[in-house]
Amino acid sequence: MPYRVFPVLGIQHAGEVIEVIQANMAQYLKDCRVSCKLSWEDLQALCRRKRLVCKQLKVTKNNFNDYEVEYLCNYKKHKGREFFLVKWKGYAESENTWEPLKNLKCPILLHQFREDMKAALLQASEPLDSASLSAAIVSFLLQKAKQSNGRGWGVRTLQRIYKNSFVMEYLGEIITTEEAERRGVVYDKQGVTYLFDLDYVEDVYTIDAAHYGNISHFVNHSCDPNLQVYNVFIENLDERLPRIAFFAKQGIKAGEELTFDYKMNIDPVDAE
Ligand SMILES: C[S@@+](CC[C@H](N)C(=O)[O-])C[C@H]1O[C@@H](n2cnc3c(N)ncnc32)[C@H](O)[C@@H]1O
Repeated sequence: MPYRVFPVLGIQHAGEVIEVIQANMAQYLKDCRVSCKLSWEDLQALCRRKRLVCKQLKVTKNNFNDYEVEYLCNYKKHKGREFFLVKWKGYAESENTWEPLKNLKCPILLHQFREDMKAALLQASEPLDSASLSAAIVSFLLQKAKQSNGRGWGVRTLQRIYKNSFVMEYLGEIITTEEAERRGVVYDKQGVTYLFDLDYVEDVYTIDAAHYGNISHFVNHSCDPNLQVYNVFIENLDERLPRIAFFAKQGIKAGEELTFDYKMNIDPVDAE
């Protein structure tokens, strides 16, 4: 802002600048626009929490107390009554609440949750009338519930990415392939895996991004991806331990989902 203010106002001394900037702040901010990164639902929830009416967001005094179920994450039975753990739209997971069945007005979500729960219990050979669910079943149901598009969480770019530019590294724990086999059985049961085999020369190590890593943890698969995977060697001559870098295969527009081909064969010559 000083670059714009100085010549316009003809100011000579720094002290004067601050006063003039403050005095003219309102005038200059009038034309400022900042993009909002909150979703529509988050903004609505914010208004409800602060009890603010907003015509554009359709939040009125009459619907301050309307809360929408985003997904169901857990189930229990207490004294014969059914309770569901609810993730509310626009609220953090830390604000999830246990609700009796009668409080829920989301028949489609309820039906889907019951179907998934039944399938998961049958697969795990656990009794269908359990009073509470095991941690593995809850984790599976949560994963399913978040997958409204069948793919779970994904990653979209907020800005344009130029063709061939470096986008991110696939980071995680480096584990042996035997350990990966063991973990893979558990992940497959949960229906979601974060294992990336490092098989540039031989299959000895695997990256597991399930518990440690970065945003690459959330990048989904596509047969027609916009990211290309490369083996990269930085201060390391052990060919069994390449680092995995994603580069843009093409120009990618802001808002597009980033994907790579999980089954992509990396040509060792090209990769170098
Ligand atoms: C590295 S994770 C990607 C992030 C994941 N979607 C999540 O919610 O955490 C890989 C898992 O995402 C899901 N996934 C990724 N791409 C998919 C696709 N194209 N179709 C279906 N599921 C996909 C599968 O469950 C897979 O095991």
